[in-house]
Amino acid sequence: MNLASNVVQTPSPTRRRVLFVDHAAVMGGAELSLLDLAIAYRDTSRVLLFDQGPFRERLEGANVPVQVIAAPASLLSVKASGGLSALKAMPGLGWMARRIVEQSRDVDLIHANSQKAFVAAALARLMGAPPVVWHLRDILTAGHFSAMNRRLAIALANAQASQVMVNSQATGEAFVAAGGRPNLVHLVYNGLSAQPFDAVSEEQAIALRQELGLGADVPIIGSFSRLSYWKGQHVLLEAVRSLPEVQVLLVGKSLFGEDEYVAQLQDLAASPELAGRVHWIGFRTDIPALMKACSIVAHTSTEPEPFGRVIVEGQLAQRPVIATAAGGAVELVEDGVTGRLVPPKDAIALRQAIQDILEHPQQTADLAQRGYDHAKATFSLESLLTNFDHALSLI
Ligand code: UDP
Ligand code: GLC
Repeated sequence: MNLASNVVQTPSPTRRRVLFVDHAAVMGGAELSLLDLAIAYRDTSRVLLFDQGPFRERLEGANVPVQVIAAPASLLSVKASGGLSALKAMPGLGWMARRIVEQSRDVDLIHANSQKAFVAAALARLMGAPPVVWHLRDILTAGHFSAMNRRLAIALANAQASQVMVNSQATGEAFVAAGGRPNLVHLVYNGLSAQPFDAVSEEQAIALRQELGLGADVPIIGSFSRLSYWKGQHVLLEAVRSLPEVQVLLVGKSLFGEDEYVAQLQDLAASPELAGRVHWIGFRTDIPALMKACSIVAHTSTEPEPFGRVIVEGQLAQRPVIATAAGGAVELVEDGVTGRLVPPKDAIALRQAIQDILEHPQQTADLAQRGYDHAKATFSLESLLTNFDHALSLI
């Protein structure tokens, strides 16, 4: 498998002309990651979205050329998890493919940022569109994708993709395990700017705690993931049930209609042991300040996380991060060195890790400092862009 490390490669002299395609327009990690790439490429490239939403405003606000072609409702309503969804979505995907062909006449290549965008782009390639890079940001397992969807995406990747760029080794290994060709895989870790984190002072973080109605000294555990079962907020609530001094800050909202899960979380938060200790603040854009207002950043996914931007963000905020030991998360955190790892779905181990961190402030400060140094050195925006440029130069 061609899994290059995140060692900085020589940058290509000029940036390619790229049509970035994403089917979604809500702000998930894939879209936040694409935002940084599209900003770097805005002089030569543009973004095509198939849905209206906040992503368009974020791109336009950053002067990135963006075009939205709203997809037919029949396409958008098909859920990725449905057994025959891939087949039912075919007419809509064909429609998307034709739009991609029209929009890609003046570019060197197409970058597909989501699975649905990739399937449409691969069909567009069959119709004569430029080479396609699939930026695979998901672990292709049964937990997230139906067998039919996986088979279709893998078959199209093997036949039509020029490269499958993966956000972690775990993502690349799952692609190969599902039948993907190893020589297509190219690892480009996500990278984030430390600047917005470095810009938040400890005083600002304390002031934010006050705004949120929380004291300067109370232990606060923050969760910064969208509200979704596999992000495991319920495990965090279980873990702090028997830690009465701990407050929980839930940042984020459901992005893909997980209303039932949100209702379950609300019930759990209303239980006598937790009542008054769970603070819901919805989707926010001031993540660096909020992370710095926390004592601990918790990543609690129940399934292998493909990468997990929140883990690196917690490290950049210089807070101790507890993450679940599966998928790409284990490539970001060395247990006891740059953060803590606990088994997924294990509320008892999570509670123990929280207690350890709160009881050992000096060790915790050292852990957070090493996490910060590691994230800054390994997952910087500069190394992302250099490696991304290099990956595209290979096509
Ligand atoms: N995030 C945000 N506002 C929120 C909650 C989360 O901007 O209210 C961001 C978070 O900082 C991170 C991203 O959403 O950058 C989530 O990305 P991650 O890779 O952790 O997970 P994903 O949701 O993509 O699976
Ligand atoms: C996906 C993954 C997440 C990753 C993000 C950016 O949304 O779920 O783990 O960090 O893409 O690559």
